[in-house]
Amino acid sequence: MNTIWNDLPRPFFVLAPMEAVTDVVFRHVVAQAGAPDVWFTEFTNATGWAHAGDKAIGGRLIKTDDEKPIIAQLWGSDPASMEKLAKHCAELGYDGIDINMGCPDQSAIKSGGGSGMILNPENAAAIIAAAKTSGLPVSVKTRLGYSRVDEWHDWISHVLRQDIVNFTIHLRTKKEMSKVPAHFELIPDIKKLRDDLAPHTLLTINGDILDRAHGLELVEKYGVDGVMIGRGIFANPFAFVADTTKRVARESEQQEGIVSDSSPLLNHSVRTRETATLRDDSEGISNDASGATQIIKKRLNLLRLQLDLYDQYANQTGRPFETLKRFFKIYVRDFADASELRDKLMHAKSTDEVRDLLDTLQ
Ligand SMILES: Cc1cc2nc3c(=O)[nH]c(=O)nc-3n(C[C@H](O)[C@H](O)[C@H](O)COP(=O)(O)O)c2cc1C
Repeated sequence: MNTIWNDLPRPFFVLAPMEAVTDVVFRHVVAQAGAPDVWFTEFTNATGWAHAGDKAIGGRLIKTDDEKPIIAQLWGSDPASMEKLAKHCAELGYDGIDINMGCPDQSAIKSGGGSGMILNPENAAAIIAAAKTSGLPVSVKTRLGYSRVDEWHDWISHVLRQDIVNFTIHLRTKKEMSKVPAHFELIPDIKKLRDDLAPHTLLTINGDILDRAHGLELVEKYGVDGVMIGRGIFANPFAFVADTTKRVARESEQQEGIVSDSSPLLNHSVRTRETATLRDDSEGISNDASGATQIIKKRLNLLRLQLDLYDQYANQTGRPFETLKRFFKIYVRDFADASELRDKLMHAKSTDEVRDLLDTLQ
């Protein structure tokens, strides 16, 4: 089957699905900053939709025609519901279905979904088969195992045998949450398993990857097909900007002794890279005060865009204004009085109040 996955560049970059983050609004902000090669929605529950329809899933499946290619990420443990929602996604014009088998939330696990799938491999296979009835290419995103890292071999072998187009592995167990560094050391063994069992299935790595430059370093080292970046986008909204900064970023890491695969250091390391990315991006702007000003302006413009898009889609997404506040620290930082302004923004009651506060900046 020829699918969008065949047409992606190698390596390809993916913005990780993140609930209450990667909706139609934030995806458009990232598109403006620097787009990945393929989009994923936040995850959407198949059982909820099958029982209660669109009102059960809010605006999770809203997309625009220019978001191409785009994959609907679904979760759930009932094959009949998965079949229905996957077919609906095909009608909506999605380019593929990704099934979440890694969510560590108890609410998902209790119903057998998310990382609960790892405990019931037979049902995981049934869910994949159900999604395939839509005719769309089906991919899976999961973790190494449920409680122990050494579960990975059996679990990953099982999923690879289900004939999927892409396999994204968040390189931690459910039990590890995001508390330990991602297990990059396992990538060579996982890749060998993929080559042996399902050479046609693309392999995408996820966990603690900072930005495109970092992803390319890992691809060079391990030869995987795709790189998925989640929280890196919070520290650097320009994380997917083309890699003109590899050398600069690596040098600054060496100078500052930054270990790039340790999650607690994510923010600091990304900030160094963001400065480097934008320095290149802004043609001739050096790392002086004016370069820094450009970066700050670009981030604030992204916030203004997010405010406008929030207003545009508020009726459809149904997301309250308060949900915007978690995004402010992505954009409002690294200048005098940034934290004072953030405090004020946290007390704002509307997008207009936020705009007025931003207008006070020169
Ligand atoms: C706020 C938030 C929401 C998330 N929601 C989802 C989700 O809907 N589906 C999913 O597969 N993973 C979800 N994840 C996990 C991420 O996709 C990703 O696997 C994880 O953050 C590790 O990657 P990173 O270190 O690049 O962030 C979420 C993570 C965060 C931080």
